[in-house]
Amino acid sequence: MDRKKIDYRKYYEAVMKTLTSRGLLLGSYDSAGKANAMTIGWGSAGSIWGLPVWIVLVRPSRYTYRCIEHAGCFSVNVPPDSLGMACALCGSKSGRDMDKLAAAGLTATRGSTVLAPAIEQCPIVYECQVVHSNDVIPARLAEEIVSGAYASNDYHRIYFGKILAAYASDGADKLLEA
Ligand SMILES: Cc1cc2nc3c(=O)[nH]c(=O)nc-3n(C[C@H](O)[C@H](O)[C@H](O)COP(=O)(O)O)c2cc1C
Repeated sequence: MDRKKIDYRKYYEAVMKTLTSRGLLLGSYDSAGKANAMTIGWGSAGSIWGLPVWIVLVRPSRYTYRCIEHAGCFSVNVPPDSLGMACALCGSKSGRDMDKLAAAGLTATRGSTVLAPAIEQCPIVYECQVVHSNDVIPARLAEEIVSGAYASNDYHRIYFGKILAAYASDGADKLLEA
């Protein structure tokens, strides 16, 4: 897909709508260089330390966790409405067991600024370098969140990724609409 550099704040509302509906695709490479994509429903983009930053939450049980720990970077890919099935697959199968991109009919190209894959079929892509990570502290979390999100004790690691580049195709937000 032909994409041009954009300000990371462009399309914010459409991206957040997609995050909370079919999800976004978090891209990373494993230590063997295989690209992986994991669906995320939680995250945020904004300004921290004077930097444009994507915050994403990844449980240690995910293969993606191992990939980001290894590579120190990730991509956030915003899928069009037509990729609902691909998001369901990438949110239910693990890259530990299979090549999810191939199974979902997705293709990865190497990011231009980080060692993370950009998913060709996604109209908006952010390339992010981890500048901080932190683990959720159960004792400092509201009880309703502990019981709702962490019944299996799989507390997220929170990654703060400095957005080194953001790209979008023309009219990207139209592709995101249902
Ligand atoms: C809509 C949706 C949103 C999800 N959001 C997250 C998330 O924010 N963080 C997370 O760790 N897992 C999330 N998951 C679960 C992972 O996508 C799922 O466990 C995936 O199979 C992990 O893939 P991996 O092992 O290849 O990393 C979500 C799943 C779905 C379907």
